[in-house]
Amino acid sequence: MSRMQSAGTVYLNGDFLPSAEAVVSVSDRGFLFADGVYEVTPAYRGRLFRFDRHLARMARGLAELRMGYDVADLPGIHSRLLEENGLEGEEIATVYVQVTRGVAPRSHAFPAGDTEPTVYAFAAPFRRPPRERWDEGFGAVTVPDRRWARVDIKSIALLPNVLAQQAAAEAGAADAIFVRDGVALEGAHNNLFFVFGGTLVTHPASHQILHGITREYILELAGRMGIPVEERAVQIEEMEAADELFFTGSTTEVRPCVEVDGRPVSDGRPGPVTRRLYDAFLAGVGQNSGK
Ligand code: PDD
Repeated sequence: MSRMQSAGTVYLNGDFLPSAEAVVSVSDRGFLFADGVYEVTPAYRGRLFRFDRHLARMARGLAELRMGYDVADLPGIHSRLLEENGLEGEEIATVYVQVTRGVAPRSHAFPAGDTEPTVYAFAAPFRRPPRERWDEGFGAVTVPDRRWARVDIKSIALLPNVLAQQAAAEAGAADAIFVRDGVALEGAHNNLFFVFGGTLVTHPASHQILHGITREYILELAGRMGIPVEERAVQIEEMEAADELFFTGSTTEVRPCVEVDGRPVSDGRPGPVTRRLYDAFLAGVGQNSGK
């Protein structure tokens, strides 16, 4: 799996500058308190995918956390980062942006009203796995969900996600599944879907999962394709009897999960509904080879 990495020209507080020169204060509330929100938007051949929804989700998060930043600046910043880094023609790139409550003496409550938010963004190329690798499917591990109660806010406080993904890595798996009160909720950086007897099932967009933009797109595609959909909680015992499992996300696209905690999902291969949705997804983002 390729990863995003900061390189080339980045954006910091109004300037476009070399990554190595982008420096943030040690008193930044992002550094001290993880007091901020972020977004990751994929760009297919330079076209930001469903960017309006990413902007709306960030605006919602900023409002929930009472942070004063206007996302209207972000389209210009995103386009310029793709351009400056030569990524306009790239098959897939991602743009990361984070906004923190800014630099202030360390004190838990909000700083003075005139504190400027810190805005940092970078763009990087992204590579999906070859289709042959996708066809083999991927593994996942379950982990207890010890995150806070508002994970619908895309906060930069990601320690439980980091630990969950590390547990997956140490098990040789691609993904982690957060489990709370016996319910399989979502991945460490992606949403989780199930197929039971031809019906697509995913957790409702509550406070307990991130309302993924890819999740929403897959639900739309399923609707158009006549695949029945249910948004409901799935217990882990039920998950063990699923016909198909897959993850979705901006850096996951559609990833089939064929093994959970070392046990195969159904026959241990990506299923037909997952395949159909992946092909529709690839067509939807303007690509049809899946390579
Ligand atoms: N993660 N759930 C969680 C916990 C996530 O962090 C993400 C995204 C998703 C999928 O959302 P979307 O389809 O809008 O990308 C679900 C990003 C990519 C990240 O943390 O890098």
